[in-house]
Amino acid sequence: MSYILAYESSCDDTSVAIIDQDYNILVNLVSTQKEHLEFGGILPELASRMHMKHIMLLSKKALNEANLKLQDINAIAVSINPGLIGSLIVGLAFAKSLAWSLGIPLITVNHLLSHVFANFIEHRERIRAPFLALVVSGGHTELVHFETDIGFEVAGKTLDDAAGETFDKAAKLLGLGFPGGPIIEELAKGGNQDFVPLPNPLPKKDNYNFSYSGMKTAIRTYVESRDKEFLDANMKDIAASIQNAIVSPLIKKTVRKARQLGVQQILLAGGVAANLALREGMKKEADKHRIEVFFPSLKLCTDNAAMVAAAALPKYKKGLYADLSVNADSIKGMRVL
Ligand code: KG4
Ligand code: ZN
Repeated sequence: MSYILAYESSCDDTSVAIIDQDYNILVNLVSTQKEHLEFGGILPELASRMHMKHIMLLSKKALNEANLKLQDINAIAVSINPGLIGSLIVGLAFAKSLAWSLGIPLITVNHLLSHVFANFIEHRERIRAPFLALVVSGGHTELVHFETDIGFEVAGKTLDDAAGETFDKAAKLLGLGFPGGPIIEELAKGGNQDFVPLPNPLPKKDNYNFSYSGMKTAIRTYVESRDKEFLDANMKDIAASIQNAIVSPLIKKTVRKARQLGVQQILLAGGVAANLALREGMKKEADKHRIEVFFPSLKLCTDNAAMVAAAALPKYKKGLYADLSVNADSIKGMRVL
C-alpha cells in the first residue's frame, strides 16, 4: 500500500492529510486560523506565522490518527500556487524538508486544480472527461473545460472580483463577520431573493466571463444608503438577494457553456461550491439538459489537504516528481505543474 502525506497552506487554513493509492482518506485535519477574525479579513504575515505554529503539531496528529509512522509515507504533496506567498512558502519548506530527510518524492500541485480533484475522491467512478469545471474560491472564479483528466483550457473567468470575494465583501459591509459565504447562506434561508434589485453582470449569450465589481459597488451603495435598523430588520431578504445575485450568473453561464461544448458533466469546485443554492440551482438547471452535476462533500469543498493529495496521486503514479529547488508563487489561475 502507498501513502501520500499532503499539505495545504495557501491561505488561512493549515491542513495535513494522508490518503492511500486508491483515494481513501486516512486523515484530513484542517486548522482554521481564528486570529484573523478581529480584523475582518486575512492578514498575510499573521497567516504565515500561524502556519509555522501549527504545521508540525498537525503533522504529528495526522500520523497518529492514521496509525502510521513517517517511514510508512511514500511521497509528500504540497500546493505551491496560487495563494498568499508567505503561507505557501511555509508549507513548501516543510514539505521539502520532509521529502529530503525521508528520501521520498516531492509532488507539487496547483491549488485550484486540487479543488477540482476533490471531486475525484468521492465520485471518480462516475466522472468521465470531457467535463466542465466551475472553480469558485475566495480569489478565483474560473470556468475550465477538461478535455481529458489533466488537459484543460480556461473557457471563462472573472474580469475583476471573484464570487467568494463578493460574499466576503458583502458580509463585511453588513458587519456580519468572515468568511462571508457561509454566514450569508445561513441568513438567506427562507428570504426573498427579489428584495434588493442587484445587477446581472455580462448577461450576453455568447459571453462566458464573469464580473462582480459592479455588484460589489451596488451592494455597498445599497448598504450605505440604509440605516442599521432597516438592515437588521430585513437581513434575511437582503442576504437572499445577495446570494441569488452571486450564484445566478454562475449557474446560467456554466450550463450554457456546457451545452455549447456538448459536455455531459459539470464539476463544482472551491469554497463557494459548498453553497447549497449554487449546488441545487446548478443541478436543477443542468437536469433540464440531462447534464450531470458533481460536487465534493462540504468538508472537501473548502481548503483541505486531502484534495492536494488527490491531485498529486496521478502524478505519483506517473513518477512526475518535483525538484527540491522548486519555488512557490502567487500567480493567479489554474495551471498544470
Ligand atoms: O476555496 P476556499 O476555501 O479558499 C480559497 O482558496 O480562497 O474558498 C473560500 C471562499 C470564501 O470566499 C468563502 O466565503 C467561500 O469560499 N465560501 C462560501 C461558502 N463556504 C465558503 N461561499 C458561499 N457559501 C458557502 N457555504
Ligand atoms: Zn481554495
